[in-house]
Amino acid sequence: MRASANLLLISTLLIGKLVAERCPQICICDRIKYQVMCLNKNLTEVPVNIPQVTQRFDLRGNKIKVIPAGTFLPIPYLTHLNLQRCKVERIEEGAFRGLGRLVYLNLASNNIAFIYQESFDGLSSLRQLMLENNRIEEIMPGAFGQLGFLSFLNLARNSLVYLPDMVFQGLQLIKWINLSHNSLNVLANEAFGGLPTLRRLSLDYNELQFLPTDALSRLSGTNRLDLGHNPIAYIGEEAIEMASLKQLFLDNMALQDVSHRAFIKSPLLHTLDMHNNQLHVQQPLTEMAHLKKINLTGNPVLCTCYMRPFKEWAAKKRIHADVVCAGPVIFREEQLESLRPTDMKCKDHALEEKLLPSMPTVTRSPEEGAVKCPDGCTCSPDYQHGNCDHRNLLSIPKGFPSNTQLLDLRHNEFHSVPKDSFPGLRNLTSLHLQNCRIATLQPGAFQDLKSLVYLYLSNNDISSLDAAVFKGTTQLAYLYLDHNGFTQLPQGAFGFLTNLFALHLEHNSISRIPDNALSGMEKLHWLFLTGNHIAQVSPRALSHAKMLEKLHLDDNSLQEVPTRSLRGLPILSELKLSKNPIKYIKDDAFLPISSGAFTGLGPRIKSLYLEKNKMHGVPDFSGFTALEVINLNDIPFHCDCQLLPLRKWLDKLNLRVGATCASPAEVHGQKVKRITAFQSCPGWSTKKAKRTSSTKAKAKVSRSSNKRQRAGKRQMRASTKSKV
Ligand SMILES: *[C@@H]1O[C@H](CO)[C@@H](O)[C@H](O)[C@H]1NC(C)=O
Ligand SMILES: *[C@@H]1O[C@H](CO)[C@@H](O)[C@H](O)[C@H]1NC(C)=O
Ligand SMILES: *[C@@H]1O[C@H](CO)[C@@H](O)[C@H](O)[C@H]1NC(C)=O
Ligand SMILES: *[C@@H]1O[C@H](CO)[C@@H](O)[C@H](O)[C@H]1NC(C)=O
Repeated sequence: MRASANLLLISTLLIGKLVAERCPQICICDRIKYQVMCLNKNLTEVPVNIPQVTQRFDLRGNKIKVIPAGTFLPIPYLTHLNLQRCKVERIEEGAFRGLGRLVYLNLASNNIAFIYQESFDGLSSLRQLMLENNRIEEIMPGAFGQLGFLSFLNLARNSLVYLPDMVFQGLQLIKWINLSHNSLNVLANEAFGGLPTLRRLSLDYNELQFLPTDALSRLSGTNRLDLGHNPIAYIGEEAIEMASLKQLFLDNMALQDVSHRAFIKSPLLHTLDMHNNQLHVQQPLTEMAHLKKINLTGNPVLCTCYMRPFKEWAAKKRIHADVVCAGPVIFREEQLESLRPTDMKCKDHALEEKLLPSMPTVTRSPEEGAVKCPDGCTCSPDYQHGNCDHRNLLSIPKGFPSNTQLLDLRHNEFHSVPKDSFPGLRNLTSLHLQNCRIATLQPGAFQDLKSLVYLYLSNNDISSLDAAVFKGTTQLAYLYLDHNGFTQLPQGAFGFLTNLFALHLEHNSISRIPDNALSGMEKLHWLFLTGNHIAQVSPRALSHAKMLEKLHLDDNSLQEVPTRSLRGLPILSELKLSKNPIKYIKDDAFLPISSGAFTGLGPRIKSLYLEKNKMHGVPDFSGFTALEVINLNDIPFHCDCQLLPLRKWLDKLNLRVGATCASPAEVHGQKVKRITAFQSCPGWSTKKAKRTSSTKAKAKVSRSSNKRQRAGKRQMRASTKSKV
């Protein structure tokens, strides 16, 4: 009896073993390569009975809609798993649990729409994750939190519109993220936070209209950035701030203007590709010591005197510049490099007009559908640009082609912009009216300009705005009203600018900012008020501009920090208060401002400019924990024991601040950080010793509290799981 029972047991074991090694009939199992292939079999679930030792599992072309939790627990030795084209819609939390050896996971070309927080739990060795060509619209921050070894993440060809803060957190060894061919339009400032190892980022073929300067600035280790095929028209000063960037691709965009200081904060830039854009002219790029290649082919570059500085700069710096002239006619198709600078002329307007490529009467006969263009102006049909700068015109010409996108009317003498000055120009995105002696903008002046994004009115004589002047220009994002005659902020006119991103009002004569000055401008990120006479900022002056990030109030007449007006600006991160007669900053100047949603300004401010003020005392700066730039130059500090708190704060801070003593006479001109006078102040040494030990204690506390937080998070997860 006993023996037969034993026999039974043995035979069951044997059969069990055989069963385990059997291969699902529909699949091919290669026992030498530890590989199983079940391609294009219409399987609706992952087959069981896969040999436990399998390392490579290829399931391409099946119909597995859901991958349930624990699916792969029986085959823990997998290193490669391919689930391409399986019509996968949902990956349950814990679907890949147990696959601690998997290095390659391909989920491309499925129907996945969401990535949940724990979709990829357990994949602690994964190196490559392919998610391209799905329908992913949203990624929860933390979704990749377990993938500490991932080096390549492919999210191309999905439907991402927005990237939230810290979305890639946890990818501690990631080298390359491909986000090409999505619909990205907005990137949160910290979207790329926590990715110090990322070397390459592909953001080409998206829908970015503006450069996401802040988000990109977090990528301190990235060498290569692909941004081509985004509808960006303009690249402003310091637009790309990436310390390690070497190769930048800005091809096939809608660039009409690139500032000569655009890349100044990316000092290692080596290769700049801007082919296929709409640049007529490019100025030399300042301070780019490492630049070796610049590609401007496929731009309507006019090789006139305006391109001479660029040519000379490229030659002098030995930069290989690939530029093919689009005009004037005699130089068409010529390489800029092959021209002699002295042949590149402008002065003679009559001649220039003859030479310009796109004079309609020259280039097309009426039968072909002549392009109309106002007298004295040039219109380029291929590039949708109209140009009448420096023409001594006394009124704004009419009759530009209705598809014109950029209109350059600088340096004329219009004095006024009457109602309906730009009839029918519905596709105009950029309008240049600088230096035109304009004093009045009549209501309805810009009424047809539904697509206008950039409006340049700098250097005119405007002192007031009619409330209805911007009615209709709802896309306007950049408004330049600097160097005009405003003595107060225009009331009402800004209410229509619901998409305004940057408002330039530098160098006017504005003396105060009243309550509700920015009402309507909910998307305003940058406000520039440098060089006015502002002495007062009312408490609710900025309260409508919740998105304000940069506020420049330097070179004004403020006697104190407008603390109360800075309340309720949750993302303010750059504040310039230099060159104001601020004498003393009250201790609570930057203290927590409301007990509500955020804990004060200090921790968020990254740049604080206070130089050239008249203050003697300074506030407690200890709340400014995120400072990267602080400037205390040219403040006449009185270096007695009352300044000890500042000195101690400076000792802790690892930044150059430039604080210098003005008095007493014996330390005049010496750095606050260097003088020894403080050592005789009461409490100097004992406090110092105490502080060091308390700092250590603090560090310990925060480390252990971090641990606690993590533990808490795990617990939370665990409890969610158990609920499920
Ligand atoms: C899978 O389904 C398709 C369509 O129903 C069919 O044409 C094909 O022959 C099936 N393939 C297999 C291997 O059953
Ligand atoms: C990113 O992925 C897309 C789609 O798979 C691919 O075409 C592209 O080449 C990848 N990007 C780069 C820079 O290789
Ligand atoms: C510039 O770009 C064009 C278009 O892609 C390409 O044909 C050309 O080789 C590039 N020039 C250089 C110097 O890379
Ligand atoms: C304006 O642009 C749109 C979209 O690019 C285009 O379809 C339309 O034809 C353009 N209008 C004119 C008048 O060119």
